[in-house]
This record gives sequence, structure tokens and C-alpha cells, in this order.
Amino acid sequence: QSLTEIKKRGKLIVGTEPTFPPFEFVDEKNQVVGFDMDIANELAKRLGVKLEIVNLPFDSLIPALLQGKIDLIIAGMTITEERAKVVDFSKPYFEANQAIVVRKDGKFEPKKLEELVGKKVAVQLGTTGDLVVSEINGVQVVRFQKFTDAFLELQNGRVDAVVLDEAPAKAYVKKFPKFLISTVVDTGETYGIAVKKGNKELLNFVNQTLDILKSSGTYNKLIQKWFE
Ligand code: ARG
Repeated sequence: QSLTEIKKRGKLIVGTEPTFPPFEFVDEKNQVVGFDMDIANELAKRLGVKLEIVNLPFDSLIPALLQGKIDLIIAGMTITEERAKVVDFSKPYFEANQAIVVRKDGKFEPKKLEELVGKKVAVQLGTTGDLVVSEINGVQVVRFQKFTDAFLELQNGRVDAVVLDEAPAKAYVKKFPKFLISTVVDTGETYGIAVKKGNKELLNFVNQTLDILKSSGTYNKLIQKWFE
């Protein structure tokens, strides 16, 4: 997947997991849209190729990249040391923290992670939210592939909380007024676009494009489009 190969193929193949609004989600027209997908479109446009989006479970994205099934991961993916051992990340393009989402019935409004001990907590398999919650002894962690399923369980009362990144947490709470964010845990994460390790050419192209999007004001326009 050198740039030449991508151009020859005529399409850029981006892997994502689309239950993560406003970064990537399925809209009324059944299209995967969002902040990340607009960045993906910009990348494809600047390469002069089409964009193909491949939806996968979040924990299958890195394996798919390693196997060469996708060129890039754009999925609100936090740059972590563990992941950076197996993939290369672009410059950070977004800052994030984890949020605890609960039902708005006033019965359980944890203000810190430790209060999740003894509770059932839903996360997305393989995310940083999964890691953070799994580190605390005594939490019953229930892992889902889709955040939409995690929130169904919260709605049904089968779990006590969902832990996920703050911006998607806000988007879900907006959609389901029965939920609220009881607290935000400062995890100081940053998102990066992942390429196969050693794919310098593609990585440089992604980094250059991110720079251009920022300096041209496009990045800020996308922030306004998806976050207000
Ligand atoms: N930022 C978190 C992580 O990297 C969650 C990302 C989930 N993204 C998604 N598209 N489902 O682990």
C-alpha cells in the first residue's frame, strides 16, 4: 500500500468502527459519516482516488491493518504505547478523556472510577475505556463490539454504566435524554490515524494533509460542523 499502489488501485481503503458519533456513525441514509470520515474524504480527495470505508469491530482494526486489508485506521483511535508497538500513528488530531454514562434516575451517579466497584459496566471491547475499567478490581466489565448495544443494555438496566470517550458520550446522551454523564475522567488521550508500521510514505502524506487541514481552516470548520 505505497501511495503509488493506492493511486493505481484508484481507492483509499479506510477501516473504522461506526458506533462512535460524531467521529463515525451510520446516518439515516445508511452512510457512514462523521468528523473522521470527512478527514478520510479529504485524504482520498488529495490523492485523487475514491474512498472505501470498511466497517469492522474495533478490536479487529489493527489486525486488518497488519494483514494489509485496509490502508489506514481512522476510528477515534487513541495513541497508546501498546498500539504504537504494532502500528505507526500520525500526529495527534484530537484530545479526549473518558466519561461515565449512567441512567438519569438519580440512583447511581459515580463521580470517580473507584465507585464502579461492584457494578456492571459496559465498554467497547479493546478500547481505552475497556482498559481503564478493567484495571479496577471488583468491577464486572461487560464488553460489547458496538456502543449501540452497550447503551441498549444501559437502557434495559442490565448494566449500571457505560464508559467511553467524552465526545461520543455527549452524542449518545444527546440522543437518549434518559442518560447523563456523571463524570469525566481525565485520561489525557489523543487520537491518531494509524498506518502499517514502516509505511513512511503514507504516514508523511497523512501528516502533511493534517497540517494543511489545520492551516487552511478546514479542520476548524469540521470541528464546528460535528461538535456544535
Ligand atoms: N479512543 C478509544 C480507543 O482508542 C475508543 C475508540 C473507539 N472508536 C470507535 N470507532 N469505536 O480505544
